[in-house]
Amino acid sequence: MKFGYFDDRNREYVITQPDTPLPWINYLGCQAYFGIISNTAGGYSFYRDARLRRLTRYRYNNAPFDLGGRYVYLRDEESSQFWSPSWQPTRREFENYSCRHGMGYTVIGSTANGIEAHTRYFVPLDENLEVWQLTVTNRRSAKARISAFSSIEFCLWDAQDDATNFQRNFNTGQVEVEDGVIYHKTEYRERRDHFAYFACSEPLAGFETQREAFLGPYRGWDSPAAVEAGQLTNSIAHGWAPMGAHQVKLDLEPGETRQIVFLLGYHENPVDRKFDPPGSQTINKKLVKPTIARHLDPAKADAAFERLRQYWDGLLGIFQVSTPDIHTNRMVNIWNAYQCMATFNMSRSASFYESGIGRGLGFRDSNQDLLGFVHMAPARARERILDLAATQLPTGGAYHQYQPLTKRGNNDIGGGFNDDPHWLIVGVSAYLKETGDWSILDEPVPYDNEPVSEQPLYDHLQRSFSYTLARLGPHGLPLIGRADWNDCLNLNCFSDTPGQSFQTTTNKDGKVAESVFIAGLFVHAGRELAAIASRRGLAAEAASYLAEVAKMESVIREHGWDGEWFLRAYDDFGAKIGSKECEEGKIFIESNGFCVLAGIGLEDGTALKAMDATGRHLATRHGIVVQQPAYSRYYLNLGEISSYPPGYKENAGVFCHVNPWVMIGEARLGRGDRAHDYYSRINPSAREEIGELHRCEPYVYAQMIAGKDAPTFGEAKNSWLTGTAAWNYYAIVQWILGIRTTLDGLQIAPVIPTNWPGFTATRIFRGVVYKISIERQGEGNRIALTVDGAPIEGNVVPPPKDGRKEVSIKGILS
Ligand code: BGC
Ligand code: NOJ
Repeated sequence: MKFGYFDDRNREYVITQPDTPLPWINYLGCQAYFGIISNTAGGYSFYRDARLRRLTRYRYNNAPFDLGGRYVYLRDEESSQFWSPSWQPTRREFENYSCRHGMGYTVIGSTANGIEAHTRYFVPLDENLEVWQLTVTNRRSAKARISAFSSIEFCLWDAQDDATNFQRNFNTGQVEVEDGVIYHKTEYRERRDHFAYFACSEPLAGFETQREAFLGPYRGWDSPAAVEAGQLTNSIAHGWAPMGAHQVKLDLEPGETRQIVFLLGYHENPVDRKFDPPGSQTINKKLVKPTIARHLDPAKADAAFERLRQYWDGLLGIFQVSTPDIHTNRMVNIWNAYQCMATFNMSRSASFYESGIGRGLGFRDSNQDLLGFVHMAPARARERILDLAATQLPTGGAYHQYQPLTKRGNNDIGGGFNDDPHWLIVGVSAYLKETGDWSILDEPVPYDNEPVSEQPLYDHLQRSFSYTLARLGPHGLPLIGRADWNDCLNLNCFSDTPGQSFQTTTNKDGKVAESVFIAGLFVHAGRELAAIASRRGLAAEAASYLAEVAKMESVIREHGWDGEWFLRAYDDFGAKIGSKECEEGKIFIESNGFCVLAGIGLEDGTALKAMDATGRHLATRHGIVVQQPAYSRYYLNLGEISSYPPGYKENAGVFCHVNPWVMIGEARLGRGDRAHDYYSRINPSAREEIGELHRCEPYVYAQMIAGKDAPTFGEAKNSWLTGTAAWNYYAIVQWILGIRTTLDGLQIAPVIPTNWPGFTATRIFRGVVYKISIERQGEGNRIALTVDGAPIEGNVVPPPKDGRKEVSIKGILS
C-alpha cells in the first residue's frame, strides 16, 4: 500500500494521506540553520547544534509519536470552527491533503470548509532563518472571514537542560515584542549573545508569547483556548514556557487568495552591541531588522526559494543517470544524494529517532558519510575532514563523537573503538580522488584540539595506520577495543549490571579479543594510504604499508577464514565468533562484506565462497541480515549485540548500512545481477508498494529493516541518519554503475545486470562534464572505451590535458 507518490520531475515525494504509518519527515536548511519537519508540520529547529542551540521545543517519544511543531491554525469567524491545514494537531476531516517534501523545503496544505490553505516551509540559502509562506484561498461562493494563527514553542537553547532542569527554567524565560516581532531572549541578559525571533508580514490582530495563555491550562495543541476564543491576548512571558503566536485577520472575497509570511530566525549580536540603548537590558535589534524586513516581502521569499531550487539543481546535476530501473534513477538522481546531504549535516544527531541531545557528529560516521557527499560540496568536505582530524588523539585513536558547535571530541558514547582511525584514511582518500586537492595533506591539524600539537594532516593518516599495528592480538589480528563498526559487539565489556552503557563499560584488559572486520578495513585503508604515499613520492613508505597489508592478508587467511566464510572475531577467551563451530552467530555480514570489498580472496576463490555463503545464509527478501543464527539469549562475552531480541538491530536485523559492502563484494566478483538485486531489496523506492509493512519513508533509507527472526520481518526503523545513505550511493554509483573516482581520473567499470541494455550518465568531475554512455553487447563486464571518439587503453579516463570542459565517453560492455 502506498501513502503518496514520487513526483520525480519536481524532485518531490507527495504524501496524500496525513496518517502515514510513522511521521514522514524532511530536513529544512543545509548549511547552519536547520529544521526537521514532518508531513503534518511537526518538528523543530536549531542553529548548527541540535543540543546547544535549540530554537524550538520538541517532546520526543511522545504520544502521538509526532506532536509539536510549526502549526498554523485557521478559524472561520462566522462558524467559530478552527482547524490546522496540516491535519495535526487538530485532525479535522478535510479534502485534498497533500504534503510535498522537496529538496530543502516542504509544502503542506489542504482544503477545509471551502478554504484552501498551504504553507511552504524552507530555509533560504546563507540565512539563519526559516520562511513559512502561508497561502489561503477562499473557494466558497460567499465572502469568508478567517483568522490565521501561527504557533511555535521556544526551547530554552540547551535542549538537554530544557528537558531536565525545570526548577530553574520555569523562571528564566524572557521575551520582547516590538512592531509585531516576537523576540525570544531567555538568558540573553547573561552570557548569550543570541536570540530568536518570530515575525509576520501582516498587521497583527494579536499575539501570544506565554504558552499557557495560548493553550489554556489543561489543553493541548489540538484545542488552543485562544484560537477557540478567536482572539490572542498579547501575553508577555515571564518564566514558564515562552512561545510565539501571531493572529492575522483575513477577509476573503470568493476566489481571493492572500499570502502571509512568517519568519522564524536566529541572530547573534556582537558582544559590545548586545543592548540598545547601551547599558539597557533591551535587545539591540538594529542589526537584525533589515534581514527580517527583507524576508517578510513575499516576492523576496519567492526569489529566495528559487535560489534554493537552483542550488539543488546544481548539486544534483553533478551526477545524473538514466538506467532501465526507475528506482535506481530516482534514488541516485534525487533522494539518495539528498539524504547524503542530511547525513553530512547531522551525522547521527538529530532526526525523529535521534534526539539531538545524545550524539554529536560521529568520527566513524562522519568520515564514511563523505563517500556519498564529497562530490556535492568538496569545500565543506575539506573543512569536515580537518575538524574530524583535529579531534583525533595523539595515539591515532579517536573520540567516538564531537559536538558540532564546539568542535571538541568527548567520550559520552565511548572511545577506543579500534576501527575508528581507519575511517579517516577512507574519508581523506575519497576527498583526494574527487578533488585532486593534495594540499589538504599539508594542512596543520592539532591532536585533540590542543594548540601546538599541530602536524600535517598526512601525519594523522600515518598515526591512524600505526594505531592498529600497535594493537595486534594473539593471532596477529587487530584488537577490537570497545567495538569495531558494530558498536554492539562489545567483547571487553562483560556487563552484568542493568543500565550500564555497553559503549563505555570495560571489564577486561582488551589484550585478547580481535576483529577480522578491522583486519579487512586495515587492508583496505592500508592500500589507500599506500597509494597516497606513493603519489607523495614516498615510495619506501608506500612499500612498507603494502608489506603490512600483505602480512595482514596472510593472517586473515590463516586465522580469519572458517572454511567457507570469513570469521567475525575472537572473543576475550580466544574463542571464535562467526564460525561454523559456534552455536549461534555462525556467520556475519561485516567481515565477509568488507574483506571482499577490500579485495581479499579475489584470486584464490575465497571471496567467491564468502559471498556465496553470505547469500545463502544471510540474504532475505528484505535485505541481508547481520548474522545467523540470531542470538537467542544474552551473552556476557558478546555484549549489546545479544541484548536485542532476535531480528532487530545488530542482532540479525537487516542493518542497511552494511548491505552495500556485499553489493560491492559482488561487483568485485563481476556479478552485477546479484549486486543490483541486493541493492533493490533495500531500495526504499522499490519498497514503496509495501508501505504498510516498511512503514518508514519510501524516499530515504532507514538504518534497519527487521530481520527474518523478528515478528515484524520487513519493518524499517530509524530512517534518515544512517551510513546507509553514503554507502548505498557509493555502491550503486561507483561499483555497480562503475563510475568511479580514482587518484588518476575517472574510472568506468560497470558491473550492471545482464538484462540492462546499458545506461547513460552525466558526471561533473574536477570541473569537466563527462557525458557517459554504456552499451551492452555481451553478458560480461569487459569494457572498451572511446573518449571523444578515440579508443583508449584500460578503463581510467585521465583529466583532459587540453582544457576541454566536456568529454564524451562511450563504453561497450561485452
Ligand atoms: C545502537 C547502535 C549504536 C550504538 C552507539 C547502540 O545502542 O544499537 O546502533 O551504534 O548504540 O551509539
Ligand atoms: C550506528 C552507528 O552510528 C554506527 O557508527 C555503527 O557502525 C552502527 N550503528 C553499527 O553498530
